Amino acid sequence: MALKVKRVGVALVGCGVVGGATATLLTRDRELLGARTGLQLDLLHIVDKDFGRAELAGLDRRLFRTELGTALADPAVAVVLELAGGTGFARDVIRKSLEAGKHVVTANKALLAHHGRELFELARRKGLSISFEASCGGGIPIIRALYDGLIANRIDALYGIVNGTCNHILTQMTQAGRTYADVLAEAQGAGLAEADPALDVSGMDSAHKLTIMAGLAFGVGVELSAVPVEGIDKLEPADVAFGKELGYVVKLLAIAQRLEGGVCLRVRPSFISREHPLAWVSGPFNAVSVYGHATGHTMYYGRGAGGSPTASAIIADIVSAASGVAGLFRDTVRVWPELHEPRVLVPEDELELRAYLRLMVDDHPGVLAQITAVLARHRISISSVLQKEMPEKSADPALAPVVIVTHATRQGDLRAAVAELAGLEPVRRPPMLINIIDEHEEGF
Ligand code: HSE
Repeated sequence: MALKVKRVGVALVGCGVVGGATATLLTRDRELLGARTGLQLDLLHIVDKDFGRAELAGLDRRLFRTELGTALADPAVAVVLELAGGTGFARDVIRKSLEAGKHVVTANKALLAHHGRELFELARRKGLSISFEASCGGGIPIIRALYDGLIANRIDALYGIVNGTCNHILTQMTQAGRTYADVLAEAQGAGLAEADPALDVSGMDSAHKLTIMAGLAFGVGVELSAVPVEGIDKLEPADVAFGKELGYVVKLLAIAQRLEGGVCLRVRPSFISREHPLAWVSGPFNAVSVYGHATGHTMYYGRGAGGSPTASAIIADIVSAASGVAGLFRDTVRVWPELHEPRVLVPEDELELRAYLRLMVDDHPGVLAQITAVLARHRISISSVLQKEMPEKSADPALAPVVIVTHATRQGDLRAAVAELAGLEPVRRPPMLINIIDEHEEGF
């Protein structure tokens, strides 16, 4: 049977790693895409200021434009791909595209986390769609899972390893005992980490993605500034090694969970048991565990970055926008961010979690007693205490590391105790606190 093919004009704005890979897939895999989607995806414009990468990829120079207006004035363009990144020019690209009557596909998690609400509202007013599968988890279809495949569920929790740069660094620190700075420098040299990795290692990139995913998962508005965020840049090899001895691996986790009083979100380096399903997510891979009341635990794993995996998600979104599927979901399900006022989050202090605490102390009689007295005053129950020998090549050979593992403790009490411990005379360096995250219970 001969099937009809519908033509869809596409304009791409920002031809970097992801833009270049998307253009390459659209042109190279034209036949495959036509056969699988019933759409003929015609790349009509590539908008950028610098076409170095586009030329390297062998893209057709006749498509190169320096003015966005040229692409937006073309009536054949149905979908604009915003792949410029950042929160300035990219915001303008999306606004102007919607004003010009074009659907938008974007990979821009920072922009959506900061200005998503306003942009989604504009799209809804115009009867258009903004699709953003590529904003979280690269090629992993986690966004679709949240607004479509899992729609029958009350989502109870979401745990994500959603930054490949951090996961690569932590994997190397764990497996090879290397320092944070050493692995980061090597990754930058090999082009695996951004020249400016600040958003990645500070945890902010994970927070952007968490905000987007949690909004869909819980059907709530989330204010990015209300999310506590801690990066991996303060982690020391000694903590990674002590954790390993205790049976834990360290991961940067983006966590959202439903509690009695609402939803709690946070991004923190966390210890998880080496038996935890997220423990084997290594190197640049990403994974998101979602706990639904009907499904129990489901987990989504794959490459969270890189040109080709991200382009896969972008093309799925072009198909969804151009076929009208994105519009149907916009008008049907009620999980979209513009439909919900930002919700006050449950403070992290209310959580009851186990914790790893490492103090660098003078090795004198009575020091341990002082520490345990502070913990007892804050009603913190100790599960184990170890005084460790200082690792070789330590910067502080005269100090002794004391590693304490607590039973589940209210985080507000724990943080108050840590602040007090930091002020004790024999505690010579800022204490290191890493929560131990147990596998979430399935809430059938
Ligand atoms: N910089 C991100 C990461 C890539 O390292 O995972 C895409 O979000």
